[in-house]
Amino acid sequence: MTIRAVVTGVGHYLPARVVENAEFEKTLDTSDEWIRTRTGIERRHFAEEGETTSMMGTAAAKAALADAGVDASEIDAVIVATSTPDLTFPSVATMIQKELGMSCGFAFDVQAVCAGFIYALSNANAQIVSGQVKKVLVIGAETFSRIMDWTDRSTCVLFGDGAGALVLEAQEGKGTPEDRGILSVDLNSDGNYKDMLYVDGGVSTTGTAGKLRMQGNALFRQAVQKLASTAETAIGKAGLTTQDIDWIVPHQANIRIIEGTAKRLGHAMDQVVVTVQDHGNTSAASIPLAMSVGKERGQIKTGDICVAEAIGGGLAWGAIVIRW
Ligand code: UT7
Repeated sequence: MTIRAVVTGVGHYLPARVVENAEFEKTLDTSDEWIRTRTGIERRHFAEEGETTSMMGTAAAKAALADAGVDASEIDAVIVATSTPDLTFPSVATMIQKELGMSCGFAFDVQAVCAGFIYALSNANAQIVSGQVKKVLVIGAETFSRIMDWTDRSTCVLFGDGAGALVLEAQEGKGTPEDRGILSVDLNSDGNYKDMLYVDGGVSTTGTAGKLRMQGNALFRQAVQKLASTAETAIGKAGLTTQDIDWIVPHQANIRIIEGTAKRLGHAMDQVVVTVQDHGNTSAASIPLAMSVGKERGQIKTGDICVAEAIGGGLAWGAIVIRW
């Protein structure tokens, strides 16, 4: 008998404030046309003043619990992927645990920037298959609008805020790719690429939160190659081939990266869940947001095999294969 971590619920939250590309034309030397053609982004959501990562994560978690038909009191662990926590500590996860009315289980944050949700899912999967926990909430939540340099047109038009969440439950499987649940994971990082994407502040350096800095073009070239490679590795570890994949659920950074990766994997764009036009890059929230929207649209259905892949600061990157 094999234990599998099966997705039983998914949900998301987006802040009410929608900012169209044209808004940036008022303050920056940019255009809707440049942003659309170079990134695929048309609009993004920004949190209101006072609206925090934990608030958005709580809303997404409640939606996922409702979708799963699971009460918060049944959850053994809450894992949050974020690089934009409310406070340096305690973790966003413990704040969400409180908001959900939980007084049991354990909660902690994972920080792997845009790859954070893959890392968090990997951790949840390991805890489930080792028998440590049975029901886990895995949340990606970000307020990247708080670390933007609004004078830097090469970064501030790219990012957005939001949250997505999955409920994972231990279920018995046969140990074959026919099983529902997480079938494989591939994680990678290389600290030599630090300067390609980082935030120029922090607790032990400046004592401030800092602003995001990115060598976009250099990162672009790394992204397609590394994302296709990690996806192929994860698919192979699952005992599958790229032909077996029903849906690619990519990190939503740039439509050109998404298209390039799909092409390398031999998939047409009608097998890719794309939300970048409406959300921009929401970092660790981007994959669970895409999963939730993809299910809502009727794209991802029970039994479908999905590969999710992401890359971000570190560099850190990875992929996960899930039979939904
Ligand atoms: O989530 C983590 C992963 N993130 C990524 O993977 C992001 C990867 N990078 C990218 O998506 C793209 O590199 C960007 C969208 C960031 C930039 O697109 P690009 O095609 O690589 O453009 P570029 O950086 O080579 O810049 C081309 C030109 C430059 O002008 P010059 O030097 O040719 O005169 C930029 O200054 O575009 C200019 N530019 C802009 N122009 C209008 C940069 N940002 C803007 C802008 N509006 N917002």
